[in-house]
Amino acid sequence: MKIDSLETLFKQELKDTYDAEKRLTKAIPKMVKAAQSEDLKTALQEHLEVTKNQVARLEQVFGLLDAKPQAKTCAGMKGIIEEGEEMMGQDAEGMLGDVALIGSARRVEHYEIASYSGLIAMAESMGNEEIQDLLRQTLEEEEETDRNLEELGEHLLEQTDSDEEEEDDEELEDEDDEEMDMEDEDDEDMEEDGEEVDDEEVEPVTPAPAPSRRKR
Ligand SMILES: [Fe+2]
Ligand SMILES: [Fe+2]
Repeated sequence: MKIDSLETLFKQELKDTYDAEKRLTKAIPKMVKAAQSEDLKTALQEHLEVTKNQVARLEQVFGLLDAKPQAKTCAGMKGIIEEGEEMMGQDAEGMLGDVALIGSARRVEHYEIASYSGLIAMAESMGNEEIQDLLRQTLEEEEETDRNLEELGEHLLEQTDSDEEEEDDEELEDEDDEEMDMEDEDDEDMEEDGEEVDDEEVEPVTPAPAPSRRKR
């Protein structure tokens, strides 16, 4: 189809976003099932309801353009969902599965935020305020969800952190820290070498000394 006007482009992107949201109404229940923490389960369940409403809102937008709601495969969202499913299929210890799940869910939100921001910008140019309002409501919901997920993730990581610390003997921890520091320095040196010389030239060239700013 030739994109000969802003409205044609807008409709095309609308169909793509409609497909993305509809896919999510099928994908989020799987994420709810996979989540371990009750907080994450609740957050995802709530976003499922919000998402169903977003689908309805997009249908309203189609209506305002005198068009029938139509979905056009959103390859981007399809890929993000596939990646998330792959992650859920892995055997993750404790809350690490939830941390990964939040990573997948936030990828979804960021993709949606980009889609809706684009649609709103086009609706502004088209001068359609009713459509802008509808899309802005959804954008705000996606942004809020992303912030909630970010907080939940931080909370889970803090828990994971303190659980691990409890398991370790304090003396051992100190030794580990020293070893880690040394490894970090080695890594930095390696990275520096990589930046200075091309792979093919590695052998004949003497590595340059690390700049002094790296030393503390
Ligand atoms: Fe959404
Ligand atoms: Fe969302």
